[in-house]
Amino acid sequence: MVHSIRLPGLVKIGGGSIQQLKEVIFSIGCQKPCIITDKTMFSLGLVDTIEAIMQPLPVQIFADVMAEPDDKSLFPAIELVKQHQCDCLIALGGGSAIDSAKAIALLVSHGGTMTDYKVPKLVETESIPVIAIPTTAGTGSEATAVTVITSATSGEKMLCMGSGLMPKAAIVDYQLTLSLPKRVAADTAIDALTHGIEAFVSRKANLFSDQQAIAAMKLIAPNILDACVETEHLNARNIEAKEKVMLGATLAGIAFSNASVALVHGMSRPLGVHFHIPHGMSNAMLLPTITDFSLSGHPQRYAECAVYMGLVSSTSDQKTAHKTLVAYLQGMNSRLDVPTLKEFGVKKETYDALISTMAKQAIASGSPANNPRLVDQQKVESLYKKVWHAMHG
Ligand SMILES: [Fe+2]
Repeated sequence: MVHSIRLPGLVKIGGGSIQQLKEVIFSIGCQKPCIITDKTMFSLGLVDTIEAIMQPLPVQIFADVMAEPDDKSLFPAIELVKQHQCDCLIALGGGSAIDSAKAIALLVSHGGTMTDYKVPKLVETESIPVIAIPTTAGTGSEATAVTVITSATSGEKMLCMGSGLMPKAAIVDYQLTLSLPKRVAADTAIDALTHGIEAFVSRKANLFSDQQAIAAMKLIAPNILDACVETEHLNARNIEAKEKVMLGATLAGIAFSNASVALVHGMSRPLGVHFHIPHGMSNAMLLPTITDFSLSGHPQRYAECAVYMGLVSSTSDQKTAHKTLVAYLQGMNSRLDVPTLKEFGVKKETYDALISTMAKQAIASGSPANNPRLVDQQKVESLYKKVWHAMHG
């Protein structure tokens, strides 16, 4: 079996790697960057920092990236990049900034709208280069050939994939995550752990993606609690944990970019669309129940997840490994203060009324087809109900 492995052309990893941004820009033959970021990065002073590093290059700034970006939000950035003939994009931020930059590069270079590029279509042609600088340890978007953009007209979360969406370079500097609020750190880290687990159990898993997924689980699981604390409480152990989770998140991104995600992500996106739950948080809400349901699809792999996550020894029997894994995921949610759907503000009547639509959207995304235990419309509907009951009885 031959697998096509997609990776960014250059990855700088480590504390302080952001200082090498200008060299990275030159190394890919560019000199007129445009920063794509959001208002938070601007107010935190991070935009000023990287602008100073890029001196004396002429730098344009688009700081209006929206959370869970829609296609309409990209238009002003496309205009700015075209008007100033920028030759590369510096994506600074979490998944929303990096996903936006990928989409902006695509539309600047090839025109059309994001609807023209959604799966099953593949984006294989190159666009102007994106240099991804994640400021959260989570989405792995810096190492994936994927972007998710919402349609402003229909509300659909459009999944776009293909080697043309892979960032040309990535700078993975954990020091940029030190000022993340605990909630954002937790949501993004759980997203990364979900990527590692889903890539490992995916029907598209392969020997290459397995190595990245295993390394990601080993780095993230034992460090996730220590990595998610408020900035004012950070000590040396927390900082070390953040460095490990940051690397784990990038490796998990490489893993799922080459093996796909599965049912948790398939069911998570509709929760984001309808209730505006942050992506990592909706994954967290689903993860224990969907893992429990999926165990029988590949019992061996799930037992191995528990071993790689440091929850049981390799001599442990499968039943114990499974029980421990699901209990760990439930415990992780409560220790990281993941709210229930109700606590987040979701009304049961609205949720129930949307179950059929959400199940359709989940299946249409294609991700559930990678799940070790397969599902149909009726099964996904019953799982949405089960998730509610698991949280609220
Ligand atoms: Fe994700």
